[in-house]
Amino acid sequence: MKKIVVENLKYKYPLSKDLALKGVSFEIEEGEFIGIVGRNGAGKSTLCQALTGLVPNFFFGGYGGKVLIDGLEVRKTPISDLSLKVGIVFQNPFTQVTGSKLTVYEEIAFGLENMGLSREEMKERIDYSLKLLSIEKFKDRNPFALSGGQMQRMAIASIIAMKPDIIVLDEPTSQLDPEGSEEVFKSVHKLSKEGMTVIMVEHKIEKIAKYSDRIMLLSEGKLIDFDTPEKVFSREDLRSYGVKEPSYTEMCKELSIINPKTGLYPATLEEAYDLVVNSNEQKN
Ligand SMILES: Nc1ncnc2c1ncn2[C@@H]1O[C@H](COP(=O)(O)OP(=O)(O)OP(=O)(O)O)[C@@H](O)[C@H]1O
Ligand SMILES: [Mg+2]
Repeated sequence: MKKIVVENLKYKYPLSKDLALKGVSFEIEEGEFIGIVGRNGAGKSTLCQALTGLVPNFFFGGYGGKVLIDGLEVRKTPISDLSLKVGIVFQNPFTQVTGSKLTVYEEIAFGLENMGLSREEMKERIDYSLKLLSIEKFKDRNPFALSGGQMQRMAIASIIAMKPDIIVLDEPTSQLDPEGSEEVFKSVHKLSKEGMTVIMVEHKIEKIAKYSDRIMLLSEGKLIDFDTPEKVFSREDLRSYGVKEPSYTEMCKELSIINPKTGLYPATLEEAYDLVVNSNEQKN
């Protein structure tokens, strides 16, 4: 069964005239890593909120179409039930911290407290999440004594500990330095390899190209494309949607270096490198 099915989803915020989502349809398989790209205001965050049920169960407004998670219609499912299936991580970790816990460990434990888990199970899950996000050494620290990057990793760990099937991340690395970003991408990639479905909005295009199975391109509330990174980044009209391809893809476009096997421009650095080396060897 498809993990996520979205059918002709339309949504308008309560005080807004325009639709933020204008009839979006797609399907996502279990364990896929999906990257969402598009310019500011394209509807990326709104779509994330529609997948978690915050739209329309928290934000209200005008809603049409359907979002199904494991066949369950999100609109008709209480957020408390959905939160066990879909976890969301926001851009700013400050908005996700309880503010009442004295240590990182307790902060991660908080979300698990109402799940009826045994002490051992709770400890196991917290230790697993701390390790996965490489924040074991901060476990006794006050959450507010962490850097932005460390705090974001704590926010992700809190979600991971709840073991949702799907994790939605809305620009989770925008506050992180390159090292912190790479750690988050690697951890999230590992989760997707373990079967978790990952949906990630990101402006760091090289990283999203490297890790995503498919890329969703949104513009003005519409789905323009939903395909492999090679296909999406090979589009000649990509820039008109406010999205820039990875720098090595751009270079290959300028030099007309196409992968003969796919007929497309490369989407990863490794692929671009191989193609450039090969094209130079052929010339020599
Ligand atoms: N709470 C709100 N009330 C009214 N309109 C909103 C609200 N939040 C977003 N919008 C509007 O909905 C549209 C889609 O916004 P959304 O935040 O989903 O875009 P986005 O792709 O996430 O942009 P960004 O890259 O800036 O995060 C925009 O036109 C925006 O102005
Ligand atoms: Mg956004």
